[in-house]
Amino acid sequence: MRPLVLIGFMGSGKSTYGRALSGKCGCPFIDTDDTIEERAGKRIADIFADEGEEAFRNMESALIRELAEKQDEEAVISCGGGLPVREENRKLLKKAGVCVYLRAGEEFLLRRLENDRDERPMISAGDLKERIHSLLSAREELYLEAADFVLELEDIPEEKVISSLERIWREINS
Ligand code: S3P
Repeated sequence: MRPLVLIGFMGSGKSTYGRALSGKCGCPFIDTDDTIEERAGKRIADIFADEGEEAFRNMESALIRELAEKQDEEAVISCGGGLPVREENRKLLKKAGVCVYLRAGEEFLLRRLENDRDERPMISAGDLKERIHSLLSAREELYLEAADFVLELEDIPEEKVISSLERIWREINS
C-alpha cells in the first residue's frame, strides 16, 4: 500500500478532497495542518504570531519526515500549501507517497480565498490578488517538481475531481 499525498496552493481543496477520498477508500486521513495544530495545542495563525513562520516550517519538515517513515501504510495525506517549498520536504514527499498536485489558476484561487483569509497568515494581510500572484509564481514549479500526477481543477465538477483521485488511488494500490 502507498499513501496518496495531496499538494497544492491554499484554497485548492486539498483537505476537502482528501477527506472525501479517504471516506471512499476507507483509509485514514491525515491533514498536516490539523496534526501540527493538535500537537502545538494552538492554531496555525497563533504559531506564526507567537513563534514565527520558520518555527512552523520546522514543524512541517519534522512531520513530513515522520510520515515518510510510514510510506507502506494506507493513508490519504493533505499537506499545507507551503510544505513543498523546502527542498528537503520535496524529497520527503516523494518518499511519503504518490503526490497529486491539485492545480488551479490565480482567478480560481482568488474566488476560493476571498472570504477565507483570516486563518491563513501567508495571505491575511495586503492585496489578496497580489499575494496569490507572488506566492503561486514562486511555488508553481516546486509543486510540479514534487508531483507524480497533476490534476487540473478549473471547470471540473467536484465529483469528477474525486473520481479522478479514486482512479489514481486504485492505480497505486491495486
Ligand atoms: C500555508 C498554507 C496553509 C497552512 C499555513 C501556510 C502556505 O495550509 O499550512 O497557513 O504557506 O501556503 P492550506 O494550504 O491547507 O491552507
